Amino acid sequence: MGNGTSTMDFNTRLRRKAQSVNYSLQRILDIQDINSGLKEALKYTLGTPGKRVRSVLLLWCCELVSGQVNSDAEIASAAIEMVHTYSLIHDDLPAMDDDDMRRGQPTCHKAFDEGTAILAGDALLTLAFEILAKEINQPAVAVALIAQLAQDAGASGMIGGQMADLKAQENTGTKELVEYIHINKTAKMFRCAAAMGAICGGATQNQLDCLCEYGLHVGLAFQIADDILDGTASSEQLGKTAGKDLKAEKCTYPAVIGLEQAREVQEKLTSEAVEILKPFGPKADTLRQFATALLQRTK
Ligand code: IPE
Ligand code: IPE
Ligand code: MG
Ligand code: MG
Ligand code: MG
Repeated sequence: MGNGTSTMDFNTRLRRKAQSVNYSLQRILDIQDINSGLKEALKYTLGTPGKRVRSVLLLWCCELVSGQVNSDAEIASAAIEMVHTYSLIHDDLPAMDDDDMRRGQPTCHKAFDEGTAILAGDALLTLAFEILAKEINQPAVAVALIAQLAQDAGASGMIGGQMADLKAQENTGTKELVEYIHINKTAKMFRCAAAMGAICGGATQNQLDCLCEYGLHVGLAFQIADDILDGTASSEQLGKTAGKDLKAEKCTYPAVIGLEQAREVQEKLTSEAVEILKPFGPKADTLRQFATALLQRTK
């Protein structure tokens, strides 16, 4: 694994990459002709300080397979961040998790109103596909990116997982159920990020398969960390209301298998993710550090 300096620099590199995603988002919003009320809500939610981990993963996967970030990857990183942000706006609505705080600020429906929040989510989802269709260089690459995002964010991906998450509140959770929920609602968006980056970089089928598997592993570990932090960190630290999963009787890893075992699963997934990258050799050190950083995150 990388030398001391690159480990030390990792968080700075993550922040720089996140900043480049912010520029892409800003640029895209500025050139779109959007209703002014809606635009205000979009600027507000996209402007809140998200970690940008999915979009940065996408950029790093493109870099891994092609040696650099290209303009397709910049567009795709903005697209996945838009879909992720839409999923959070809707997740926070009163009909879903009913949350008042997100990224340290009032949720979209609190800062504006519920109708605006629903439409802002709809707009982000639609805009993501519009920019992929219009701004990706090669039609075949655009179609592959659109298919990947639709699949992983859709009914057999994130939305399916969110549905199962809602319904699970009425049931006693099992290990199989919580794994199903977490893979679908969260891990598939990480798989999607990895796949989209690989596609933008012109990956071979083997590279694509490998990065998809890596994405699923870090994505599942990421949601387990989210569950653990919900029960162990403060709202100030998280920038969102802590302790809400227990109150809402959510089906989470700590609730179903206990905190200690949840930590063990999370660690196992992370070392498997690192192992999966073996065929890439030292070139994949950034992704190895990324997996470890997600495991150790505190917000
Ligand atoms: C929150 O995702 C939703 C989950 C899948 C746990 P993030 O923790 O990536 O949220 P932001 O984008 O940084 O706010
Ligand atoms: C949300 O999971 C996953 C999404 C697809 C948005 P959570 O409901 O646990 O996410 P937080 O804790 O509100 O960020
Ligand atoms: Mg939720
Ligand atoms: Mg939630
Ligand atoms: Mg949560």
